[in-house]
Amino acid sequence: MTCGIAPATEVSDFDSINLYTLTNQNNMVVKITNYGATITSIIVPDRNGDMADVALGYDNVEGYINAANRPYFGSVVGRYGNRIARGKFTLDGTEYTLATNDGENHLHGGQMGFDKVVWEAERVDNGVKMTYRARDGEEGYPGNLTLSVTYTLTNENAIVMHYEATTDKPTVVNVTNHTYFNLAGEGEPTINDHILRIDASKFTPVDAGLIPTGELRDVAGTPFDFREPKLIGRDLQSNDSQLQHGLGYDHNWVLDREKAGLELAATLHEAKSGRVLDVLTTEPAIQFYGGNFLDGNLIGKSGKAYQHRSGLCLETQHSPDSPNRPEWPSTTLRPGEKYETTTVYRFGVK
Ligand code: BGC
Repeated sequence: MTCGIAPATEVSDFDSINLYTLTNQNNMVVKITNYGATITSIIVPDRNGDMADVALGYDNVEGYINAANRPYFGSVVGRYGNRIARGKFTLDGTEYTLATNDGENHLHGGQMGFDKVVWEAERVDNGVKMTYRARDGEEGYPGNLTLSVTYTLTNENAIVMHYEATTDKPTVVNVTNHTYFNLAGEGEPTINDHILRIDASKFTPVDAGLIPTGELRDVAGTPFDFREPKLIGRDLQSNDSQLQHGLGYDHNWVLDREKAGLELAATLHEAKSGRVLDVLTTEPAIQFYGGNFLDGNLIGKSGKAYQHRSGLCLETQHSPDSPNRPEWPSTTLRPGEKYETTTVYRFGVK
């Protein structure tokens, strides 16, 4: 990975951008840069043992820094991953105004979210720990926040992502990883032929700005029912106003959790390669974003254009706009408390 071109945005510590490579006994390779704590490659075997990179991204750091249309390939997004309506929320009686970067709404932390900053990095056993210290007032959020994400790679072909954060003032936190997967290999044309299961009986319908309306709607009888494995493309042409708002799937599913702790949330399968991805999480919800804003203009790391819906994200998180939904699981973090959450991307074949 090279660096050195002046950034489109200010980056404080440009010289300390590095690329960290994790490997395991099965020759699986994961590459992560401390620019945005971004996963840049995930190289895993198919059912014949042939390796492919299943994560979309660029082959140099300038791609990430200057990314047109900001796809957030592979990065950690926050301080609040996903949307906050009109960039406003009230906490303990004070209204905060955040940077708005998605029409009138706030998305993925604002103009200089956690995907656009350089994180400190230290090697740990089988992994790397990245830390970012967000200032009080950054992008409008209250509180100096110290956030770390530790990535480890296991011999079971699992990437474990463990997030921890503390603050010195009450704030909101909701971070997630924004990797785009194509289990046939990055650069392959579509994820509509992937089979997805999401362990959720309800999802959060949205308005035209992709802000939840507040309803928790049953997936039964809708294109949003992924409780049994289903081809992603199967119901995409349905006449459904939610699919129109999202331009396809770009919604949040509330997981059917049995208990607190790490549970299987979703499974993705690509039949030709046989590759399978299990997503496990401690989070209450997951955003399935079907790559609707990819339009063929971004050229990926192997020189192929990333076509419409050629990658998908499975973003474990609290639901969008939770700071304005007191009835939903809280995203508030107070001084003395510890934010702690884990998500696992576990790869296999069948
Ligand atoms: C959101 C999409 C957004 C995309 C940006 C996803 O997490 O759900 O609405 O366009 O991120 O890449």
